[in-house]
Amino acid sequence: LKVAVLFGGRSAEHEVSLQSARNVIEAMDKTRFEPVLIGIDRQGAWYLNTDSLALLNSENPELGVLNARSQAVSLVAGESAGQLVRLQHAGMAEAVDVIFPVLHGPYGEDGSVQGLARLANVPCVGSDILGSAVGMDKDVAKRLLRDAGIPVARHVCLRRYEVNDTLLTKVAEEFGFPVYVKPANMGSSVGVVKVKELSTLAEALDYAFQYDTKVLIEANISGREVECAVLGNDQPMASIAGEIVTEDGFYSYERKYIDEKGATLVIPAALDDATFERIRILAIQTFRALEARGLARVDMFLSATGELFVNEINTIPGFTSISMYPKLWQASGISYTELISRIIELAIE
Ligand code: DAL
Ligand code: MG
Repeated sequence: LKVAVLFGGRSAEHEVSLQSARNVIEAMDKTRFEPVLIGIDRQGAWYLNTDSLALLNSENPELGVLNARSQAVSLVAGESAGQLVRLQHAGMAEAVDVIFPVLHGPYGEDGSVQGLARLANVPCVGSDILGSAVGMDKDVAKRLLRDAGIPVARHVCLRRYEVNDTLLTKVAEEFGFPVYVKPANMGSSVGVVKVKELSTLAEALDYAFQYDTKVLIEANISGREVECAVLGNDQPMASIAGEIVTEDGFYSYERKYIDEKGATLVIPAALDDATFERIRILAIQTFRALEARGLARVDMFLSATGELFVNEINTIPGFTSISMYPKLWQASGISYTELISRIIELAIE
């Protein structure tokens, strides 16, 4: 099967996507799948196979070998995503069997690539348009979760024109501090600020508005941060849970990818069986409530009093070497290579 692996992309998680893609490509079972590399630069231009390698990082010699092995497909290297829309005519529907968007954030995880795949009539790994779109938008996701009776931290969602001192004072009174300020559509904690007092709230909002036109102020849930991996379509299964341990409860971008000493991943989390089971059930409920498909990682808080709150879903979770999703499955008995195979199979079943 020819698998078009999309990576890079226009979102602020471009670098994370490159790291994820390197691992996905490396772990892919080459006896079953032939990766067709499609790199997307920060401006949105698309590059095929050899041309995409500069993006992917020439530091990794393995990838050079891999590319030499993969046959060139009958697709002319595209200037932009628009090229793929024309793939019916270009014969790409036959050129690749499935699209694997290893893209995080807007323009990749948010339904846009999924829509492109649907138009082109090529199966796509992971959630479809709706699940991707609602999973990406933290405001909409939380409203749907609330509607499904799933506990979430309180939040308000603001557009820039709605922000004023009276409103911020009111939110501060209701939520107390700290609060988290987050762009609605972003991942990896890009643009997220932990705000400890009213005087810095406006500044945090300004920062988050650099990434999105919608920004959330979210109440803090003090307790532990746990994550659960989900795999499947109609009958999804959930992994053992892992825990993120940080000094102050903020798993920032830097702690995720730059200064990894700031966060420890504990897999499996030190929890009792009953809590593992509650986490599994909640993860699957979340997956279903948000119309996810194929794969997702559900992130939660476990409060000091033992209550679980869903923080968010990630429909294309990180696949970097330090990422939770593949590690959780490894701990649950599924190797990285087997995991990638299953994810691809779920897209075409
Ligand atoms: N958004 C990042 C990639 C994650 O969820 O792992
Ligand atoms: Mg996320």
